[in-house]
Amino acid sequence: MLDFSLTPEQESLRDLARKFARSEMAPHAAECDRAARFPEEIYRKAHELGLMNLNVPSDLGGSGLGVLDQCLIVEELAYACGGMTTSIIANCLALEPILLGATPEQKERFLKPFCADYHLASFCLTEPSGGSDAAGLRTRARREGDHYVLDGEKCFITNAPHASLFTVFATLDPERRAKGITAFVIPRDTPGLTPGKDEDKMGHRASSTSTVHLERVSVPAENRLGGEGEGFSLAMRTLDQTRTPIGALATGIAQAALDHAAKYALKRVTFGKPIAEHEAIQIKLANMTQAIRASRFLTWHAAWTIDRGGKGTLESSIAKCYASDAALAVADEAIQTFGGYGYMKEYPVEKLLRDAKLTQIYEGANEIQRTVIARELLREYA
Ligand code: CAA
Repeated sequence: MLDFSLTPEQESLRDLARKFARSEMAPHAAECDRAARFPEEIYRKAHELGLMNLNVPSDLGGSGLGVLDQCLIVEELAYACGGMTTSIIANCLALEPILLGATPEQKERFLKPFCADYHLASFCLTEPSGGSDAAGLRTRARREGDHYVLDGEKCFITNAPHASLFTVFATLDPERRAKGITAFVIPRDTPGLTPGKDEDKMGHRASSTSTVHLERVSVPAENRLGGEGEGFSLAMRTLDQTRTPIGALATGIAQAALDHAAKYALKRVTFGKPIAEHEAIQIKLANMTQAIRASRFLTWHAAWTIDRGGKGTLESSIAKCYASDAALAVADEAIQTFGGYGYMKEYPVEKLLRDAKLTQIYEGANEIQRTVIARELLREYA
């Protein structure tokens, strides 16, 4: 039997995240958005509660959760603030290549001290020149004896100004595209590694994003993840794991938008009755509800697939792509339900639209998700 019920453990994880989101995050969401403030005190509390390094096994100091458990938490956090949630879960993205590609010794060395206290890590794949074309990245790694020297520039890197650990993808030979790419773990205090200034973003303004400049950064060979040329596969396998929680993040934003819209529609009176009684508004609310349910179930299905040992490439791209498109559409309809008030910053829904927009872009633009979906699909017909 297909079962949508959650275990008591999952219910309590969700309750913990909901309580934290509504009592600690939500009250500060508007202010952090307005001021583009990075609320480190909130992120520290998330770490204390075990809401940060979700995917890291508990013997290495993380929460040791499966992808479905992560999604339950992420949806609750994103209901309160998409930007804060991005910063809270960025460690999962940055640490996943270590979980997938590190030796037991490297896991002990990098993950244990990292997870024991509050620390942030950044995943450094994207570059100014290539963007979506990850195999075309230009950051060079040159072997010199027992270490590598890295030179290049990364962009749109979540949490970089505050991170103490960076997983960096560089190429030994750009001509070899995917087969030249190699992954490295680089501590923040390594000379030559410099995060840029915080980007001034449209949404997710409680999160921090910057470039990372690498100039003659010397990385010991013992900090290489996997073999030379195995970095691209590590990056792709990482994204297979982490795109599903982005579906949950988008679903949380969309659920918040629907809740605001429905409550407003019951209160706001036009033509002598609450607008919730006008068919035009009911159709909006019904469409929003359908989109959110579909997003949640696609996300849960992708998570379930991965938790059962599946690769999840197809399912995670479907979940991420569908839920993020839905979140933008739902936030847009929420603004429309509020009418002119929805366009004003005094009301909460315009932030949701700005936050939803990024979910269509990061962790692989939705155009890339559609490429992945089509490739996976066509393989079944070939
Ligand atoms: N798992 C394992 N291996 C994979 C894989 C996967 N999911 N996908 C591809 N590969 C392998 C292929 O099998 C192939 O190996 P072989 O040559 O041995 O057959 C190799 O990798 C190259 O694959 P492709 O030929 O498919 O590569 P491509 O150049 O056509 O690109 C792509 C594939 C899917 C478009 C990829 O470039 C991609 O995903 N781009 C988007 C990158 C992205 O998501 N960036 C976001 C970064 S995170 C972020 O947003 C920042 C943040 O902080 C939030």
